Amino acid sequence: MNHASIISIQHMTKRFPVGKGEFTALNDINLEFGEGEFAGLVGPSGSGKTTLLNIIGSLDTPSEGTATVMGQDISTLSHKASALLRNQHIGFIFQSYNLLPVYTVFENVEFALLLQNRSASERKKAVLDALEWVGLTDKMTSKPAMLSGGEGQRVAIARAMVKRPKILLADEPSANLDAQNSHQILKTMKALNRELKTTFIFSTHDEKVMQYLDRIISLEDGKVVSDVEKAAAAL
Ligand SMILES: Nc1ncnc2c1ncn2[C@@H]1O[C@H](COP(=O)(O)OP(=O)(O)OP(=O)(O)O)[C@@H](O)[C@H]1O
Ligand SMILES: [Mg+2]
Repeated sequence: MNHASIISIQHMTKRFPVGKGEFTALNDINLEFGEGEFAGLVGPSGSGKTTLLNIIGSLDTPSEGTATVMGQDISTLSHKASALLRNQHIGFIFQSYNLLPVYTVFENVEFALLLQNRSASERKKAVLDALEWVGLTDKMTSKPAMLSGGEGQRVAIARAMVKRPKILLADEPSANLDAQNSHQILKTMKALNRELKTTFIFSTHDEKVMQYLDRIISLEDGKVVSDVEKAAAAL
């Protein structure tokens, strides 16, 4: 791979306490991700996709081994340092995308920028750019309850991308989208990936998503069972 590595996972195992025992959700994972990758985690329900995204996003820590993200060892980060890493460099799109109901679309997207030191006019420009990326400029004064599921998902994408993060993690991003919207969103993400060199890592069951990926990593029972790079990406 000829990308500079920004995520390095070595001999990483994750166990969760269950009753009096433990459950091994990830088992000796070794993976590298480079700048500007467009990769996906696939595999059956329960294979460890969300667990792996959560660790890369510093929302959880390995039980053994290391996960290094933007040069920082996730296991040793303080609460504050991991919050800073997320705030500066990582965008998330969760399956349940948690928009704030009392705020407008514009405000929901702007929210991601409020912890950063930017002027109101800089924020406005960034939010308008992000809403244009996802085709929701005309809904910017709507509240989330007035949106369709797919529109809500697109707001979540705008909110995750508005900071222009180095890494974007998306857990089942097309779960609430119809085929046409899925293709539109994937094309938008791919364009952002090329333009901004953002590293995208998806978890997905969706064939429509898979066809856009440059690299597909298959998980089964917490192990990587295949890791395939496509020579040329679909457009
Ligand atoms: N906090 C937790 N405590 C105990 N077990 C957990 C916890 N989180 C996840 N697991 C278990 O770890 C395994 C992997 O879960 P994970 O959510 O990563 O799967 P997934 O591949 O994302 O599945 P899906 O496709 O259904 O979203 C599952 O068996 C799950 O029950
Ligand atoms: Mg999951």
